Amino acid sequence: MRRVVLLLLVTAAFAAGQTSVTGYWDFQAPRTANNDGTYRETFFELKQDGETITGRFNPNGWREMQISEGILHNGALHFVISTPHAGAAPTRVVYEGTLAQDGKFTFASIAANGTRTPGELVRTSREAALPPPRIAPPALHDVPDNGLARTPPMGWNSWNRFRGLITDADVRGIADAMVSTGMAKAGYQYINIDDTWEGQSRNANGNITTNRKFPDMKALAEYVHSKGLKLGIYSSPGPQTCAGYEGSYGHEEQDAKQYAAWGIDYLKYDWCEARNVYKDEEEQAIYQKMGDALLKSGRPIVFSLCQYGHDNVWQWGSKVGGNLWRTTGDINDHWASLDLIGFGTQQGVTQLEIAQFAKPGHFNDPDMLEIGNGGLTADEYRLHMSVWSLLAAPLLAGNDLRTMSDETKSILMNTEVIAVDQDKAVNPVRALTPDVWARTLADGSMAVGLINRGEAPAPVMVTWKSLGIAGKKIQARDLWAHKDVTVSPDDYTATVPTHGIVMLKISEK
Ligand code: GLA
Repeated sequence: MRRVVLLLLVTAAFAAGQTSVTGYWDFQAPRTANNDGTYRETFFELKQDGETITGRFNPNGWREMQISEGILHNGALHFVISTPHAGAAPTRVVYEGTLAQDGKFTFASIAANGTRTPGELVRTSREAALPPPRIAPPALHDVPDNGLARTPPMGWNSWNRFRGLITDADVRGIADAMVSTGMAKAGYQYINIDDTWEGQSRNANGNITTNRKFPDMKALAEYVHSKGLKLGIYSSPGPQTCAGYEGSYGHEEQDAKQYAAWGIDYLKYDWCEARNVYKDEEEQAIYQKMGDALLKSGRPIVFSLCQYGHDNVWQWGSKVGGNLWRTTGDINDHWASLDLIGFGTQQGVTQLEIAQFAKPGHFNDPDMLEIGNGGLTADEYRLHMSVWSLLAAPLLAGNDLRTMSDETKSILMNTEVIAVDQDKAVNPVRALTPDVWARTLADGSMAVGLINRGEAPAPVMVTWKSLGIAGKKIQARDLWAHKDVTVSPDDYTATVPTHGIVMLKISEK
């Protein structure tokens, strides 16, 4: 009763403009779409001067921003976060709400496209609102090789298709489909849950928890294992993941132990909000921490680094125990994205330039596959599968395996192309010309991609001279047509479809 009176007084005082909103605030927005019982937190520091409100978004964090247009009038609070863009208008997100009975604001953010995200603005402490105290990065050392992933990992990941909607039931269904469609037989093994499985907060012992979409992770792992498959999970070295869920910051060993106890076989570890605490140059030490923790966990766990290719990760990824490391920003299901990742420059390099850093157990990761998600043509998806295979990239399908078309199946399960990807020698692919890529395979034959990035079908030629086999008797097989092709004494020319590829296996007779 006394509490209610106090709250009413606070509310009345606010309305009368007597109590200041100056202080730290937490905007808690339930993730209704994900339907997982969690809410996203965004922190503000506000300062009130009369009706004028100033302050900071994500105070002391990596993307701290000043709020603008702030006003508190008759219990209605309004401010704007305006993000500048070089050469374009700033993006405006409006935050507004009204004071509720209990001293909170019934609040919402309204994105530039009109999307309204409702929630509550709740007073919080400075400690909760600022990034956590910095834990000094450890001294560098070489983490012993875990012996896993001698060829690029193959499997599936939830993010590209499901984003935050992935559930336990979906994962079970995907595991079933992995077997029933023949994907498992073709070599796909890991079922990887990406971001949004995490609970709102850790339990009393500091253990990471799951949200209600994943009621029993151990039982799920048992189910996946019963299918002869392996289960992967996702976290961040930061206090939060990219989707704003609980990260592993300060709990690395504890989380690695928890994954082992659940029966997890693969961890994707995504830099994300580690940016709030560390500089890019500190990534090696921070990834090393989890590399050590996974080794100590007592269970073989593939370690997948995801820091978008910062800081030349290909030079140190294997030293921190990494089996694979992302080399690019996020892929999406559009030609421009595939073209940029496959052939463009990201983080100052092309995928070709860093191909030499892939070794058995340690691979460049140009991100997961979009094959079957619908945004590209079949020729573009064949190019996607082929270029990733020439690069010895991980093959992590990103589509819904339960509803694949026959065409998608024929692309993802082209075992002749998969054999190139999985070649044990892991020799680096080379560009003989920008459109002709070649990789020497363990048996001495060569995988050759004839690439057409143009907007019309075009002839592309490979010469035996450029492959160092001039004057030899050549046997050539088209890995998409699944047949041997007749070649000229000096070369072979194929008409390659728009945004397409012809993949050949060339050997001496
Ligand atoms: C980052 C990663 C993606 C995905 C999301 C999840 O953007 O690069 O692959 O894991 O986070 O939030």
